[in-house]
Amino acid sequence: PQSPTNQLIKLHQDATKLYTHILMNTEMGQPALDYLHKRGLTDQTISDYGLGFAPSKQLLKPFFETRKIDYQTLRHSGLFIENSDGELRDRFVDRIMYPIRNQSGQEIAFSGRMLNQTPDQPKYLNSPETELFNKRKVLFNFDLARGAVRKQGDLILFEGFMDVMSAHQSGVDNGVASMGTSLTEEQIYAIQRITKRIYVCYDGDTPGQKATQRALSILRDNSSLTLGVIQMPEGMDPDEYRQKYGEAKLANALESARETPVAFEMRYLKTQYDVDTDTGRLQYLNDILAILATVKSPVEQDVYLTQLADSFQLEKASLRQQLAMVKPVRQ
Ligand code: CTP
Ligand code: MN
Ligand code: MN
Ligand code: MN
Ligand code: MN
Repeated sequence: PQSPTNQLIKLHQDATKLYTHILMNTEMGQPALDYLHKRGLTDQTISDYGLGFAPSKQLLKPFFETRKIDYQTLRHSGLFIENSDGELRDRFVDRIMYPIRNQSGQEIAFSGRMLNQTPDQPKYLNSPETELFNKRKVLFNFDLARGAVRKQGDLILFEGFMDVMSAHQSGVDNGVASMGTSLTEEQIYAIQRITKRIYVCYDGDTPGQKATQRALSILRDNSSLTLGVIQMPEGMDPDEYRQKYGEAKLANALESARETPVAFEMRYLKTQYDVDTDTGRLQYLNDILAILATVKSPVEQDVYLTQLADSFQLEKASLRQQLAMVKPVRQ
């Protein structure tokens, strides 16, 4: 007899297979498969990640009912929504399905992406929290990334699943993504067990840059990881970059676009203030000095003080003096 947990895992395995079958072998799945192909995903990548399609008709419900899976197991799986009469219906309908796996590589939840833009529907719909699925703990692709992270020595944190898969298709396997939320302590803990160095590679658009700042500050406050930032140019996300320039260029950018958190903040904050005015310039310098104060290495501090002094025609000594007065954000 199977434990309830194993039963739920088995349900997710069966659901994954079923969704994949619909995507790869049926007429219903053709538009979704065309869509993925148009985004430049190969069948190898689609298969590596077990992608699938949930059609507009009921799929899991009749399948599991024929197999006599008991009602309570189905209810607790998160794969169904329940009406006021307790009747279950497939939660995921007309969506491209991304299985989410735990650290042992078992499917424990899904994220479903809508095919066509429908304004009143969220782009991504995730499984609810269940006995198997705790959003705070899960990192997408952690099971596959672990080996590459150990070998390579660093981990790349992406914003979305598509970015992780794009990196994988480009031969970069040390990428993970959090589940559409900001980083949690549990996720940081899991990351720290396998590496000392993390690169935040969120989208190059404004929300992505804001989220990068937030992630850096959470990581600064909750870890001893060495931090770096990778940003795609032109406001793109890594997947858009691959679609436009190809796999080799993405792999290359993921190496060559690496910068320190301070360099990122200096670049980003410059776009947030009008540094041509005295007020804007002073606010900018205040923000940068607050960040510089969190930097432990005197040499690294010096590098950026020199840059600031040069670009704003200031005395390095006065910048240094002001830096000494800034309370570090951390400790
Ligand atoms: N997300 C979500 N719900 C939404 C929008 C986003 O959960 N309505 C999460 C998803 O995990 C998504 C991530 O936030 O992967 C990043 O969002 P976004 O950049 O908008 O999506 P992309 O990953 O770029 O998705 P796509 O390329 O498929 O449009
Ligand atoms: Mn096709
Ligand atoms: Mn985004
Ligand atoms: Mn994105
Ligand atoms: Mn995208």
